[in-house]
Amino acid sequence: MSYERSVSAPDHALSPETVWHIDMPEIRFGRDSTEELAFQLRDLGVDEDARGLVVTDENLVDIGHADRVAGEIREDGLSVDVYDDSEREPSVEAVADCIEFVREEAGEAGYDFYVGLGGGSCMDTAKVTRAVIANGGHPTDYIAEPTGEGEPLEDSGEPLVLMPTTAGTGAEISPVAILSVPEKEIKEGISSNNVRADAAVLDPTLTTTLPPDLTAKTAMDALGHAIEGYTTHEYDSLLRPTDPAERPVYAGRTPLTEMFSEKAIDLLSNNVRTAVHNGDDLEARENMLQGALFGAIAGLTAGASLCHAMAYPVGNKYHTTHGETIAVLTPASTIDYNSASDPSRFADLAEMFGVDTDGMTDREATDALKAEYVQLQRDLNVLPSGLDELAGITEEDVDWLAEQTVETQKRLLRTNPRPVTEDDVRDVFLDALYNWEET
Ligand SMILES: [Fe+2]
Repeated sequence: MSYERSVSAPDHALSPETVWHIDMPEIRFGRDSTEELAFQLRDLGVDEDARGLVVTDENLVDIGHADRVAGEIREDGLSVDVYDDSEREPSVEAVADCIEFVREEAGEAGYDFYVGLGGGSCMDTAKVTRAVIANGGHPTDYIAEPTGEGEPLEDSGEPLVLMPTTAGTGAEISPVAILSVPEKEIKEGISSNNVRADAAVLDPTLTTTLPPDLTAKTAMDALGHAIEGYTTHEYDSLLRPTDPAERPVYAGRTPLTEMFSEKAIDLLSNNVRTAVHNGDDLEARENMLQGALFGAIAGLTAGASLCHAMAYPVGNKYHTTHGETIAVLTPASTIDYNSASDPSRFADLAEMFGVDTDGMTDREATDALKAEYVQLQRDLNVLPSGLDELAGITEEDVDWLAEQTVETQKRLLRTNPRPVTEDDVRDVFLDALYNWEET
């Protein structure tokens, strides 16, 4: 066992980690669980004269989900406003606009509760808005240095409930919100247990309206969380912090996260084709939403790794969605590069994907896993074949992407299961230009 990777705490005992910990919002899952939203809010201490805000986007207003959610709240006697200007892959300024809206409509103290309804972008907008209202200032104050000021979020703020309408990001339970900083062409996370929601209400009936391409892309993000969580370092390969408060939010895989990874891969890989090709199949949608939740519980507790680190510079420069970027990068990064860290775990993954690994070496099983994963992408019919088809990325673009990954994604790279240099990242980007031949 090596403890070299331990950069987990500024101050630590010289002994290995012996403790794992999981911090989760309350979770309410199932068909028509939207009907229990008001109950959930009351359970979090929201009282009868409270006034809240639903943070969502125009599309979810147009298809009626925002009305349905606001209606449930009003039926209970609470009052609620709707902010529908959330931006896809939100910039710092877009979130600052939402915060400004809150200060204008409800004063400096803000609303009494918040509901984030939508994909990861709407949910992250709601998370940061609630946190900045509670702690004051501007989102940049809480983004890690050198991009931001790196101030800690001392307060979590008023109750926040998140309701995903995609099966993918895991933002409903994660301790991170991702914002883009357009002038620097980077994406940055605000990472804190105080940015995490108090409760998640997951209703699969809100996901049947998601079109096939977004269903596929968000599913590949969810699958990425499950796989990265399963293959990251173990929690006890880090050093134990002297102060438990210093334990990082991404603290390595544990028996609990492994269990959730395995179930997530089963649910996602066996239902994604149906959910993409027959979006009205509620059972498939329910399995996908559950799979995405389990993938997030695993991966966003254990920690995402190289693939997610590489995806952020790509998404920010080329405006690709997070899910399709993860899909394109996973074969070269998570599978090919990281498999050298522990080949037998990748053989286990191959079996979870339904590969008959009987008689195969771990290397052969890992190659079969990669083939199966790429075949799954091809079957979905809407995913790009590599970075080339994703955004016209060429060999010339790779140096900048590798440099940005290493410079801006230390948070994810430092716990990657295999050490990574800038040259390594460059090679992985080159490998991801073409995952299969375009037709
Ligand atoms: Fe992700």
